Amino acid sequence: MPWIVGVSGASGTPYAAAVLRALVERGESVDLVVSRASRLTLLDETGLPFRDAHWRDDLRAWLARGADGKPDTFDAFEDHLDAVRHWSAGDLAAGPSSGSYPSKGMLIVPASTACVAGVALGLSKDLLQRAASVTLKEGRKLVVAVRETPLNGQTLRHLVSLDEAGATVLPASPAFYAGATHIQDLVDFVAGRVLDAAGVEHHLYRRWEGELGGGSRGGTT
Ligand SMILES: Cc1cc2nc3c(=O)[nH]c(=O)nc-3n(C[C@H](O)[C@H](O)[C@H](O)COP(=O)(O)O)c2cc1C
Repeated sequence: MPWIVGVSGASGTPYAAAVLRALVERGESVDLVVSRASRLTLLDETGLPFRDAHWRDDLRAWLARGADGKPDTFDAFEDHLDAVRHWSAGDLAAGPSSGSYPSKGMLIVPASTACVAGVALGLSKDLLQRAASVTLKEGRKLVVAVRETPLNGQTLRHLVSLDEAGATVLPASPAFYAGATHIQDLVDFVAGRVLDAAGVEHHLYRRWEGELGGGSRGGTT
């Protein structure tokens, strides 16, 4: 059974890349939904396009890219691309739009405030939001890695609704106790917490071991 990964148009496309790499390296299957707006953030943050007709090539380039912008940091990912199935964001007849389509759950990373509102209100304006509503109604795991600051009352209320509906609200908020020395470490910390919430094993960050001082030692990976 696949994990559905939804990428919405908040800043933070490196978080999505880190989650996707970790899932497939772990042997998980992924159904990928990339919102229309997130193609703009991807272009802005990486210079890369994401086109439905060329999704494999575009995904390969995106996932190979390190958070510092180096293009071939993760090129071994090539071997795992077959584990990913792509669905167009406008395709409301796609598998993940039905509860009878099996999945382990859904990870929205990053989640825009528009996406948070849409899922909280059940708008289903595109496949990403529909798949999230389906995930909730089927009682499956939904992790929402929201990225915005500051947060207004409206978004806070939507986040409470999501929490009450059973979702895990996970602010894309890196911590510094794991000894980050590089931008990729901060990205991997957030990606790792998303996978922790989903119950997927990973080695993306160094866990807290109960002793002060680790944060200044550096070297998370
Ligand atoms: C470069 C860029 C960065 C953005 N960053 C954020 C962000 O961090 N958080 C957010 O909620 N929206 C952000 N937005 C706005 C969303 O993309 C916009 O609300 C969009 O409608 C979200 O649509 P979606 O949820 O369907 O992907 C950003 C937009 C652009 C172009």
